[in-house]
Parts: sequence; structure tokens; C-alpha cells
Amino acid sequence: MHNGANGSDPASYVTRNSHGSVVAVNHRVHSDHEIYRMEIEKIFGRLWILVGLELEIPHPGDFKTTYIGEAPVVVVRDLAGKVRVFENVCVHRGTKLVRSSCGSAQAFKCMYHQWTYALDGRLIGVPLSQGYGPSFVKENYSLPELPRVETFAGLIYASYDRSIAPLEQYLGGFAAYAREIMHDGDVEFMGFQRYHVKANWKLFVENTIDGYHPGLLHMPIMLDRSNYAYQPGVGKSAKFGHGHGLLQWPVTRATDWDPLKDLPLTACLSRSEGWNYVSDIFPNTMLLQIEDILTVRQVIPRGHEAVDVITYNLAVKGESEEIKRHRALVVSAQFGIAGVASLDDKLVMEAAQAGAPARYTGTILLRGKLEAGEGDLTDEVSLRGFYEGWVEAMTA
Ligand code: FES
Ligand SMILES: [Fe+2]
Repeated sequence: MHNGANGSDPASYVTRNSHGSVVAVNHRVHSDHEIYRMEIEKIFGRLWILVGLELEIPHPGDFKTTYIGEAPVVVVRDLAGKVRVFENVCVHRGTKLVRSSCGSAQAFKCMYHQWTYALDGRLIGVPLSQGYGPSFVKENYSLPELPRVETFAGLIYASYDRSIAPLEQYLGGFAAYAREIMHDGDVEFMGFQRYHVKANWKLFVENTIDGYHPGLLHMPIMLDRSNYAYQPGVGKSAKFGHGHGLLQWPVTRATDWDPLKDLPLTACLSRSEGWNYVSDIFPNTMLLQIEDILTVRQVIPRGHEAVDVITYNLAVKGESEEIKRHRALVVSAQFGIAGVASLDDKLVMEAAQAGAPARYTGTILLRGKLEAGEGDLTDEVSLRGFYEGWVEAMTA
């Protein structure tokens, strides 16, 4: 172990200053499989975890499949309209039950021995059931259901922890921002992308809420002929407790946008004022509203060295087709599997992962006023907050 890190004590992997701010993180948290196992239990196995958006399952019978940490789950709107989340596993012999990524169903039937479940989780069909004898009672074999499910501004969350505080309480001071960015859930779905990065899930979150790198790493895309200028000193980086954080800066509007010379991002059609946000609800939700980009990122860890990210690309309900078309163009030009910014970001996230096995185990988060809950846009306040939330969850 290095820098006093002790495998069984996650708090020993961070350094705090006299104000309690996390100012350094041991790089082992990105490369150590034991730490990762602990995260699956203590973070993904306990906290409120994003599993999708309400607009994915608008009607009774609609379902989607996803993961909470590594556990497969199915999110369903039952016939009474209630959103439920089950582990996506047949209780007979543990076979993954629902194989499609989404759809609409009257019931779920396991392909193996064809046990069938109602959308509220009840076991309703067992072929050749007489072989189980009279003591076998179907009521004892419902699908394993997540005990807590809540929705907020169109986002669906589930937790394995029966006694976890209500979601809005967990969001705390960030709740108002989440509502604003999500337009209270009044959004339309325009498609999604899934991309895979060979980096620890925390490096993905870090990169997203890092306001220091855009004007540097992404300089080539900032230097096209646009009026879009990232201005250090304008905007803020803030933390909200429990690991939630955001970057906030004003919308800019290019007046002489030229499609041959400028990035699509630089023509903001949907609004001419207000704020851009890049934010993280700890641990796995990122809400982004940057000019015409409105997107939710769901982070799914894939072992300690890889992550899948699902991005939901959104428009505000009632917007014109022209604005929606532009939003679709901007988000795919900028972010996702072929976006110019995401390609840069993937490169540095994977390079950060490649650096994790070095004997040098420091990674420092010293930028800005260390005692403050917010700072300049390029300060590392949101990152300090993220790792403070990480320690809180890992030591709870
Ligand atoms: S494993 Fe599902 S019915 Fe047997
Ligand atoms: Fe970036």
C-alpha cells in the first residue's frame, strides 16, 4: 500500500486538509479490484441509483433492462401504472429473465423452464407444477424487487436500501438544479448512445465535471472561428454534499454562425440566455445542458477498469422541428461515440487509467479556495465534493 492507504479503510485513500476538503486521492481507487468490489456493495448496492427515464416506459406494460452496479435489473410500468424495479433474474435457477433492452409485455416468461411472472413480480405460471408437490406455493417465489423506487423530474431511481432517506432529501441543494436542467421532466426523447471507455467509472465522472480541462484539452475545437468562447473566471464549480456537484456558466450566443467554419455547438437556437450546466448526482447520473445540448448520462461500471455510459439525448417538449434537428446534430457532433469532445475525453480518461498502476499514487485536487463550497469554473471544487461523497458512502 502507498501513502498510508489501507485496503480495508476507504478513508485512508484520500487526503483531507484542515477544512475537511479532500485535496488528494490515491490513484489506487481507480485500479484496485477490492476497492471496486466495495463500491459495488456500498455505493451501487445501497444508494439511489439512476435506472432510466420515465419517458422510456410511458404506458402500462412498458419495460426496459439495465444494471445497478453489476446487477441486471428490469424497470417496468405495471398494469396499474406503477413503476417497479426487479432484479432481472428468474427465481427458479437464476437465469437472466428479460433479454431485450426494452419493449412492452403482458408478462415475463423465462426461456429456460418457462416460469412466468406478472408485471408486478408475482409468479403466475410453472409448467408441470404438480412435480413440486403440495408444499410449493407460488406466492413465495415472486421476482426479487428493489424495495425503494422514486422518480424525480422524469428520472427513475432505485435503491436496495429499504431505509434510505427519500430521494429529494438525498439530492438536497442540488434538487432545484436537477429540476431546472430536466425542465421538470417536460422533455422529449430524441435517441440515445451507449459508449464504452476503458477507464474506472470515477474517472468518467471526474472528467465530465472537470472545468479545468475544456479550454486546454479541447482547445482545437474551441479555436474554430466561433464566437463560442470558454471564459475562465465566468461561472462556477460547486459541491452540494453527498458527492453531488456542478459546473455552471452562462449561455453564449453566436451571431454570425457559419456551418462551414463553426462547430454546430456554437449556434444556440433553443435559448439566448440562462445557464449551461454540467452536473453529477452521486454516483451515476450526469445532467448536461450546454447550449443546445440537453442530455442525461447514466454511468454503469464494468469492472474496475471499464465503464459503459448511456446518454439520453433530449429536447424540451413542444420545441420546433428545426430546434430538435439542431439539437440532434449538436449533441452527436460534440458528444458520444463520434463527438469531437468525447474523443478527446476518452483519450485522457484511458490515459489516466493507464497511469493508475504507477508507483506514484497521488492525484491532486488543490485548485481554488480549499475551504469553499464553490469556486471559479476551472476550480476543482466539484471534484473535491465527488470524492468527499465517495468517502461518505464507502465508510457509512
Ligand atoms: S431458470 Fe427460469 S424457469 Fe428455470
Ligand atoms: Fe472534456
